[in-house]
Amino acid sequence: MKILHVCSELYPLLKTGGLADVTGSLPQALTKLGADARVIVPGFPAFLNGVISKKLISKIPDKFSATDINLYYGHIPNSEVGIYIIDAKNLYDRPGNPYQDDKGVAYPDNHRRFALLGYLAFLLATGIDDCWKPQVIHGHDWHSGLACAYLRAHEFCTGFKLAGSIFTIHNLAYQGIFPQSIFTELELPDEFYDINGLEFYAQVSFLKAGLFFADKITTVSPTYAIEIQGEEQGCGFNGLLSNRKYDLRGILNGVDKNVWNPETDKIISQNYSNKAIAGKLFCKTTLQEQLGLAIRNDAPLFVVVSRLTEQKGLHLILSELPTIMKLGGQFVLLGSGDEVLENAFKDLAKLHPKSVSVKIGYDENYAHQIIASGDVILVPSRFEPCGLTQLYGMLYGTLPLVHKVGGLADTVIDCTLENLADNSATGFVFEKFNIESFNAALRRAFALYDKKANWKSVQKHAMRQDFSWVNTSQQFMLLYEQVRSL
Ligand code: ADP
Ligand code: GLC
Repeated sequence: MKILHVCSELYPLLKTGGLADVTGSLPQALTKLGADARVIVPGFPAFLNGVISKKLISKIPDKFSATDINLYYGHIPNSEVGIYIIDAKNLYDRPGNPYQDDKGVAYPDNHRRFALLGYLAFLLATGIDDCWKPQVIHGHDWHSGLACAYLRAHEFCTGFKLAGSIFTIHNLAYQGIFPQSIFTELELPDEFYDINGLEFYAQVSFLKAGLFFADKITTVSPTYAIEIQGEEQGCGFNGLLSNRKYDLRGILNGVDKNVWNPETDKIISQNYSNKAIAGKLFCKTTLQEQLGLAIRNDAPLFVVVSRLTEQKGLHLILSELPTIMKLGGQFVLLGSGDEVLENAFKDLAKLHPKSVSVKIGYDENYAHQIIASGDVILVPSRFEPCGLTQLYGMLYGTLPLVHKVGGLADTVIDCTLENLADNSATGFVFEKFNIESFNAALRRAFALYDKKANWKSVQKHAMRQDFSWVNTSQQFMLLYEQVRSL
């Protein structure tokens, strides 16, 4: 089975969030099942410079204002997965992240930059690489939505279907919306600018292209798959998604144990496992020392590794930091994003240097250190399609404290008395998205921390959870079988 993943970021070459972790792992997991999975990405410098054994596959005529377009094929280091890279310097060779300039402003030609990504994925399905042609195109998030539209446009015009298509929603809040006026630039049939097509409230949505034209839709947890069919979490697409509910599946993300494993992690201060956990305390003490926090094992260490956005519910933490400190806890945060949130956390760290430490920025290594050193990882998101840091937390014995929503609800089991009694608990879950409910969960965490034997047994159970990619990739293989071309 030949599968082409279409995406804009991929760990370890380029990452802004969990999407990269998934696109870095899933194709590898599929390869282990015997599939021939490849990836196509825009030619951002990190990709062009990061791949190995790069060779030219095809020169592409100018398109969407891109000139001098070359399609390369190479390999991701230490991976069997092949990667196509669209080298189009005038669209992709820019400072900043894949979507925004270095001042955080979205590039004005994003519609062309990501139309080209979708178009080249489609061209691969037409056979522009003599040696390889996908049977399934699997797009991730709005950046890849037009791949599904170009495939369908070809079918619409010729009656011939080139490849099956799957579209995965990692986050419905990012919708790839552009003014109606850019539609003609996309070179799609006029009929596609329609409520049954890319039109979304008189604008163009690349996300909707994926949701409407893909053969099957998946999202990254079963609960989020249900939530997005309702008005509250549907972001305006709930009607479309509930109409397509038989084509929509929630498949939980996995964790790459080559990257996130306390037994082998080379970044953390000392390795440990659920059988020999002493190294975890060493990690905590080392971090406390490095950050100038009071070196106290009896102080539960609450940690956050997160994009600082509205989605992540961080205002709850800001309100309750005084409670954490009053009850004798410490707090360490790594994140970046919203300037107001960044400043609010920085101010608190200045006020309480012995118990609060805040680092603004993006730092993969430090993320590992914090997650290994913490006692509790806070993920109080307003909504969360899957969430990965709570999974990493569990595997590192850092108990997650989460809002009962999306993938957080599917993966964390609350420390209620009955769950403690039958040894199924893995963390702390609060139901209502408000300060009282969050505060009660915090107090449950403190109460359990005082009962060392109980804490240890929950920790060990959390560390034994299986979030491997095997099950996830098997579920995708079944879907690919349903939509594949011959
Ligand atoms: P989202 O994709 O919504 O940001 P996830 O929990 O799915 O949330 O994934 C976040 C990923 O990004 C995790 O791998 C996490 O460790 C990483 N991450 C988030 N913020 C930072 C940061 N400031 N520095 C390093 N890694 C980060
Ligand atoms: C998105 C979601 C997050 C999910 C990640 C990977 O960024 O916000 O919940 O874990 O994608 O699927």
